[in-house]
Amino acid sequence: MKALRQILLLPLLAALVFAEDNPIEFMGEPQCGASLSDPNKALKINLNSNANCLWHIQRSENQTIRLIFSYFKFNPSSSCETESIKVYDGPSSNSPLLGQVCNNTDAVPVFQSSSNSLTFLITTNSVAFTRNFFVSYYYFSPETTIENCGGSLTGPSGTFTSPNYPAAYPEFTYCVWHIQTTKNSKISLEFQDFFLELDQNCQFDFLAVYDGLTTDTGLIGKACGVSRPTFESSSNAMTVVLSTDYANSYRGFSARYTSVLPSPPEPDTSLTCSSDRMTIVLSKAYLDSLGYNETHLQLNDPSCRPVTTDQVIFSFPLSSCGTTKKDEDLSITYTNVVTISESGNVITRKKIVQIIAKCIMEKNSTLEVIYVTENNIIQNTASVGRYNVSMSFYDSDSFSSPVLESPYYVDLNQTLFAQVSLHSTDPNLLVFIDTCTASPQSDFGSITYDLIRSGCKKDDTVVTYQPLEHYGRFRFNAFRFLRRAPSVYLQCDVLICDSNNESSRCTKGCVSRQKRETSSYTWKTKAVVGPIRLKRDRRAADHLESLTGTDAEETPNLQRYSFSTLSVVVLISNIIIVVAVVVKYHMNCLSGSGYQKIPSSY
Ligand SMILES: *[C@@H]1O[C@H](CO)[C@@H](O)[C@H](O)[C@H]1NC(C)=O
Ligand SMILES: *[C@@H]1O[C@H](CO)[C@@H](O)[C@H](O)[C@H]1NC(C)=O
Ligand SMILES: *[C@@H]1O[C@H](CO)[C@@H](O)[C@H](O)[C@H]1NC(C)=O
Ligand SMILES: *[C@@H]1O[C@H](CO)[C@@H](O)[C@H](O)[C@H]1NC(C)=O
Ligand SMILES: *[C@@H]1O[C@H](CO)[C@@H](O)[C@H](O)[C@H]1NC(C)=O
Ligand SMILES: *[C@@H]1O[C@H](CO)[C@@H](O)[C@H](O)[C@H]1NC(C)=O
Ligand SMILES: *[C@@H]1O[C@H](CO)[C@@H](O)[C@H](O)[C@H]1NC(C)=O
Repeated sequence: MKALRQILLLPLLAALVFAEDNPIEFMGEPQCGASLSDPNKALKINLNSNANCLWHIQRSENQTIRLIFSYFKFNPSSSCETESIKVYDGPSSNSPLLGQVCNNTDAVPVFQSSSNSLTFLITTNSVAFTRNFFVSYYYFSPETTIENCGGSLTGPSGTFTSPNYPAAYPEFTYCVWHIQTTKNSKISLEFQDFFLELDQNCQFDFLAVYDGLTTDTGLIGKACGVSRPTFESSSNAMTVVLSTDYANSYRGFSARYTSVLPSPPEPDTSLTCSSDRMTIVLSKAYLDSLGYNETHLQLNDPSCRPVTTDQVIFSFPLSSCGTTKKDEDLSITYTNVVTISESGNVITRKKIVQIIAKCIMEKNSTLEVIYVTENNIIQNTASVGRYNVSMSFYDSDSFSSPVLESPYYVDLNQTLFAQVSLHSTDPNLLVFIDTCTASPQSDFGSITYDLIRSGCKKDDTVVTYQPLEHYGRFRFNAFRFLRRAPSVYLQCDVLICDSNNESSRCTKGCVSRQKRETSSYTWKTKAVVGPIRLKRDRRAADHLESLTGTDAEETPNLQRYSFSTLSVVVLISNIIIVVAVVVKYHMNCLSGSGYQKIPSSY
């Protein structure tokens, strides 16, 4: 038989075709069980229902047996309980069980005896179906090694070939290559050259590739013939098996594997900015995917530590933890950077990632941007927030006691003290009141009266105070703009500047209209104080309300007044001043300005 197979070697195509369905080798083999004593043999076994057949392999030579089930087709509806091949490590089915093969076996099963005998038992269930098996075995001495046969490969990429390549591979070759690459990577296996004996089911010579480090399960594929198969593992481990029989050897293969790194995960980070704090949240899963240990993450100021739950949270006042501040054209930007500390385990890490968190305080809102730079790739996300600004009246120019009463009843001709407060942990900011307008209409529609415009007083009772830290202050006499209206609204535009900038708009005071460039500002924050009513009308209002049950503002008495001109000063009984604060974020214009460290002693 060996001679026959070797004759087929020469005309290749003929050999390939012939080998596929060459029945000669198996003619006359008993179908159900046998005692075998040849040094090697291949069996094509066909069985139908209710089989229970025992094969027994034994020789006197002191050698080991390798038994290969290179093709099996069970009844597809069978389970391991009803239909299987059981392999025993010894002369009978009472010998220790080496393993079993059944319909769901996800491998090309290969068994090796510990001594010179093996037994296998095939059982089938009652379903009528032709089961096909191709089994081969050979005796060999484990101590005889073949060169370049199998091994461990751990580099990020590498090549290996079949034994003797490009010369013909030896007979009875069984080589196992274990490939393992770095965590998180996958393995791609390609062949520059591949030439094994061809047959339809790759029963004679074959290459089997497993997804993992074992050959028991996880078969990715099996290949033979002349082809260029490619395989990819699901994780960082792959096992490659070459198995050959006793004849028809060809060049074999030359293989190359590469580790495939997954595309970088989307950064799972978030940033929130308020005028008090910056809060950077990083998911642990994201950090894990970068190979980062959170204990080694740090801000510009390494003494600021995160809180760690299932997330890593850095939350700190705007002006602390080494945050830098940049005065830009249209915004004030606070920046901090999350990096891995020097003591971190840099060796196992592939990527150096910087997470740059920026809070851009801009116009009427706080724009938050978080950048992640990863090997020069910058990714960012943005969201919107705002500065926290409020406005209240005070009872004197010490601005120590805010007026809490509501409604706020004032005397005729009383001086009102107003203060706009910025609530921010950045100490180096100034609040400047640019424009304040009064109107009887809450939407500041047709009738408005300027108290302050472009930092210039427009009403002769107005007195403005120098910008002081987070406070913008002014006073005015109520009567100068009160008219015959049930309510008076006050709206102010506020600029916020970097107090370290001596030439900022906030330090300039009254600026002529031509030089202004603030017309594009819009307000957003409405801080409502009031209503303000005249004290002497409180009694009247109470009286009226008790008589009519309606709000004094709606009494017909008031309706007969009408606005004649804005300069007419008529005191009326019910005055509500609603103050709207217009928040403007002053933008310094020096384009060459750089980062500036914020004192962290705030
Ligand atoms: C078979 O070989 C093993 C080691 O390979 C040895 O220990 C044992 O004595 C040998 N048995 C016979 C019968 O030669
Ligand atoms: C038997 O194996 C075939 C082929 O792998 C599979 O399609 C089928 O679902 C299996 N049957 C059972 C019962 O697991
Ligand atoms: C992170 O590092 C710290 C200290 O170096 C260590 O105790 C901890 O086990 C590490 N955590 C992980 C997930 O590697
Ligand atoms: C704004 O600041 C005031 C005073 O610090 C605080 O009471 C209020 O809750 C803040 N509002 C927001 C929206 O942060
Ligand atoms: C309002 O006060 C000013 C001085 O502060 C005074 O000259 C004026 O007469 C007062 N007007 C009224 C109506 O009380
Ligand atoms: C901020 O101003 C822009 C226009 O300048 C406007 O579209 C946006 O709605 C405003 N945002 C808030 C929160 O008021
Ligand atoms: C100060 O403010 C002015 C006016 O906005 C601006 O042009 C300049 O760049 C700012 N200077 C610094 C140092 O930021």
